[in-house]
Amino acid sequence: MITNEFWLDRWKNGRIGFHQEGVNPKLIEFWPILPKGSHILVPLCGKSNDMIWLAEQGYRVTGVEISSLAVIQFLGDNDLAYDTHQEGELKIHTVHGLPLRIVEGDYFQFSETEFDACYDRAAMVAMPESRRADYVTHTLNRLTATACILLISLHYDGDKQCPPFSIEEQSIPLLWGVDIQKIASENLALTNPQYKEQGHSIFEESVWRLQP
Ligand SMILES: C[S@@+](CC[C@H](N)C(=O)[O-])C[C@H]1O[C@@H](n2cnc3c(N)ncnc32)[C@H](O)[C@@H]1O
Repeated sequence: MITNEFWLDRWKNGRIGFHQEGVNPKLIEFWPILPKGSHILVPLCGKSNDMIWLAEQGYRVTGVEISSLAVIQFLGDNDLAYDTHQEGELKIHTVHGLPLRIVEGDYFQFSETEFDACYDRAAMVAMPESRRADYVTHTLNRLTATACILLISLHYDGDKQCPPFSIEEQSIPLLWGVDIQKIASENLALTNPQYKEQGHSIFEESVWRLQP
């Protein structure tokens, strides 16, 4: 069962193979140009450096993450000064000097709306199938009607009972809406032996974008 405890334990035990040291190249290549000050939502943000890159482009960034360890590491690793206040069940960490907030708590309790865009890398694929539709609905409800979405999804062969989960390509428009477009795709198993060793001949990473 993939519960909140599962993720808290992963952080406690340092099992965070999903974390990337640099900025995701797909973000840099495919992020749409939006007006400065646009408010970007990064659900299930971990300690992703992608948030720093987005904030440095002049966007206002809000990441949401359940693990306090992830939040502390993100703020510490990037040497960020910040203020913290409590809003209900959520802790809001507001960074000094960058337009960036990390909301610490369960994403499903996060109820702010009117975000202009969403960046999902390793978030939807972290959700078990039973919660996937709820995750997407909850995310869409946080966005304006004309919001942009950049989504990095995975599809692979073989069985895997833990995240990242494989998502059938045809289910993406069903979940996110028919206007979302696949704009890039790469079979990582062809270039990275790690996936072959794990028994995958296909490990396709796809970039999807909704840009009204
Ligand atoms: C696979 S990681 C991806 C992290 C980040 N997006 C990245 O690219 O490195 C998924 C993250 O979601 C967090 N998470 C899982 N369920 C959550 C929830 N219900 N609310 C907030 N964060 C959650 C986990 O702690 C973990 O850091």
